[in-house]
Amino acid sequence: MAWTKERLEEVAQTRLGGAKLIVVANREPYIHRYRDGEIEWIRPAGGLTTALDPVMRACGGVWVAHGSGDADAEVCDKNGRVGVPPDDPSYALRRVWLSKNDEEGYYYGFSNSTLWPLCHQVYCRPTFDPANWEAYRKVNETFAAAVLEEAQGGPALVFVQDYHFALLPKLLKAARPDLVVAQFWHIPWPNPETFLVCPWAKELLDGMLGNDLLGFHTQYHCNNFLDTVDRTLECRVDREKFAVARGGLETSVRPFPISVDPDLPKQYLGDNWEKRARALRKKHRLADRPLLVGVDRVDYTKGIPERLRALDRLLVQHPEMKEKFHFLQVGAPSRTHLETYRDLTEEVQTLADQINWTHKTDHWQPVVFLNEHQGPEDVTLLYRMAAGCVVSSLHDGMNLVAKEFVAARDDERGVLVLSKFTGAAKELTDAVLVNPFDVDEMAAGLYSALTMAADEQERRMRRMRAKVQDNNIYRWAGMLLSEVGKLVPETAAKPMPVPAPPANPAIDQVEVRIARENFITAMRLAGC
Ligand code: G6P
Repeated sequence: MAWTKERLEEVAQTRLGGAKLIVVANREPYIHRYRDGEIEWIRPAGGLTTALDPVMRACGGVWVAHGSGDADAEVCDKNGRVGVPPDDPSYALRRVWLSKNDEEGYYYGFSNSTLWPLCHQVYCRPTFDPANWEAYRKVNETFAAAVLEEAQGGPALVFVQDYHFALLPKLLKAARPDLVVAQFWHIPWPNPETFLVCPWAKELLDGMLGNDLLGFHTQYHCNNFLDTVDRTLECRVDREKFAVARGGLETSVRPFPISVDPDLPKQYLGDNWEKRARALRKKHRLADRPLLVGVDRVDYTKGIPERLRALDRLLVQHPEMKEKFHFLQVGAPSRTHLETYRDLTEEVQTLADQINWTHKTDHWQPVVFLNEHQGPEDVTLLYRMAAGCVVSSLHDGMNLVAKEFVAARDDERGVLVLSKFTGAAKELTDAVLVNPFDVDEMAAGLYSALTMAADEQERRMRRMRAKVQDNNIYRWAGMLLSEVGKLVPETAAKPMPVPAPPANPAIDQVEVRIARENFITAMRLAGC
């Protein structure tokens, strides 16, 4: 039976009963910001929010996140809560406010200068700064307090996201042993030799073993985690059950490959996408030439300079390809307060300029680099227009751009050039798989994207689409909830009473609707 939004809704109701779903992620799914004196909202770039927003829309609940937009506070009630999606609220967003110092130490520091490079094997040296570690601990405590407040003493499943919150599960369990806590680690987990250089490795592992369930994208990352724990802590690692027992708690460790909602591209494209495509071609002077596209946050794990060098190589090896195509790279600015990220943006811009200068003709230049945030409507349009999409991550837990591209191609055309070092490559084996460190192999990959016969494109795309259709985001969440639902105490499986309307009218509607739906479904399932 296929996984759909409706099926997930039902699983959420049966498995969670009356337990409240509280998702915790550093990044919020919607950011409010000022533009020209007006408040607007955007969806941030990055796989985590893209994947989880449809799940929250289906299940309802609360998403606890750092309020990072300059207009975020403006639209919230006094508790930092607002209904989202802003144009049609179906769940609540609880924003946590962080001081500049905390953000510096916890987000830019320990999360993105220590754990991010430590877990991605891309030869970027992690920093180990005790002050950042302190900030990380403090912010994990701040989030624990916010989650406990949201749980309101009642039964709840807390679903923690990612490497920003390794300490949170243990903090929650210590305060409320009855809470069911699960965590999904969206990035790779390295081997023990790599991870154990971290001076705070023990504390991080100890925090993560507060989870009842811990998920990674692949079995390989689960195995790495179990090996790391085995070498570091006094505990029992059960390799048959894939579980770690320690201090009376058991943590199950399982792979759950994340995905996308395959029906979203249709909505994002709308009916007049061809008109928008023509306007875009005109704006960037693309004429009607085939397009290769790349869509990434500007991050050193994504292999953007590597793909540009491969493009240069392609044009040297195949000068006949000049004027035959364009390469359009969307690079969403990311973590720009960090020097490594600023340097990378400059490197990509310089490389793009150099390649254009070397290969341009009177009426053509190969590269268009758009160093800007683009919403899902524009990104989906690019996927749909492209002859090929290039994902050349040097290391990536999954990479949802690859799956989004496939989901957008209802015409069954287009070639995916995909790094072997992504989680997605394990599923999308009909992509042109490349080693992004090998410039010749990458250049050959780009060449095949531009020259592959239509029937071959169709054959590959059809198979990839079937996989994304089956292994969609509702399956990911459904499998996770089914697993974790086994741990929700019986008492939580009672229908939730409809609460008295809270103060904020925007939230009112969301919570009352969710509670009412919980109640109705529970009654229906109970045969009433
Ligand atoms: C990766 C991480 C996410 C993160 C996203 C965007 O996918 O696993 O946790 O949200 O990148 O990065 P940012 O730092 O902008 O949230």
